[in-house]
Amino acid sequence: MSATLTSNSPVLGSPIQLYDLHPPLEDLRAEVLRGLSQPQKSISPKFLYDKQGAELFDAICTLDEYYLTRTEMAILTTHAQEIADWIGDGALIEFGSGSSQKIRVLFDAMASLPTYVALDISKQHLQESCADLVNVYPNLLAIAICTDYTQSFELPAIPAIADQRRVGFFPGSSIGNLEPDEAVEFLKNVAGVLGANGRLLVGVDLKKSTAILEPAYDDAQRVSAAFAMNLLARINRELGADFDLNQFHYRAFYNPIGRIEMGLVSHIDQTIHFDGVEIPFRQGETLRTEYSYKYNLVEFQQLAEQAGFQTKAIWTDPQQWFSVYGLEVMPPSLRQTPD
Ligand SMILES: C[S@@+](CC[C@H](N)C(=O)[O-])C[C@H]1O[C@@H](n2cnc3c(N)ncnc32)[C@H](O)[C@@H]1O
Repeated sequence: MSATLTSNSPVLGSPIQLYDLHPPLEDLRAEVLRGLSQPQKSISPKFLYDKQGAELFDAICTLDEYYLTRTEMAILTTHAQEIADWIGDGALIEFGSGSSQKIRVLFDAMASLPTYVALDISKQHLQESCADLVNVYPNLLAIAICTDYTQSFELPAIPAIADQRRVGFFPGSSIGNLEPDEAVEFLKNVAGVLGANGRLLVGVDLKKSTAILEPAYDDAQRVSAAFAMNLLARINRELGADFDLNQFHYRAFYNPIGRIEMGLVSHIDQTIHFDGVEIPFRQGETLRTEYSYKYNLVEFQQLAEQAGFQTKAIWTDPQQWFSVYGLEVMPPSLRQTPD
């Protein structure tokens, strides 16, 4: 696996090691074109997070309607010591680290700082967040890996964690962006990265009433709409498409099969030009931007088990809106499908 290792110097704190495994632009272009060529047009949510997208997502996290961030934070804060004890020592690997805020609750409860490995597809945001983190925790060894965690991957050979137990952290209900079968594949991949004795702390949104769910993804200030719309702006800017942002509007709704569906709806019959290809949109046709699956406690434990994880602990809030699972990689003899 090829990786560029660079190191930058934050104001305070130790230097951050950066491994740049970001997919080449041509791979992204091909993936977007594939998504736009399907009968149900879609673009993977991973494209939502350029610099503007990451800032808009952080703004969403502060909205009254967006209960997810504050509820998960409250669970982590309330049970910080118990969770930190459960994690134990070793390297802590966060998948989709974003602003690296939630990890701080865990660091603050730990007797000593772990080696921290942050994985994110958004390189600039990843670097800035890790720099902020080592300014707050000057003794932290932070390793940033810019990569697409939905691709099958192994971690690069990182000497600092070579002999350490690995614990994954996957908060923010990001698992809900994946279809259930993709979530199983992803978790299998994670189990491989974590290895024997690996543990994973994962934040999962629980099923609840539509009256609470829908406003979380379609807020009164229209920040969620701006976040989705930025996807089109990004594809225009970086990949040379000609989406007219005025000819789409954002729509989010709860599908009772158990997911929020987010998309951009075409106002008119129109043709988009992308990569030398004409992409027709009918009036009212939706370009899917994101799913957010919700799981009750039994459903998620079954999903984790299919992926080779045993549930060891579950932490929830008093209203049972959000859940944080402590999972352990199963020994091969207990897995449903052998490796
Ligand atoms: C919903 S945000 C969650 C951020 C943070 N972990 C939290 O809980 O607040 C998702 C994060 O995952 C990153 N991300 C999304 N898809 C990704 C992918 N396929 N590979 C790597 N990072 C990804 C985004 O850039 C973003 O920072």
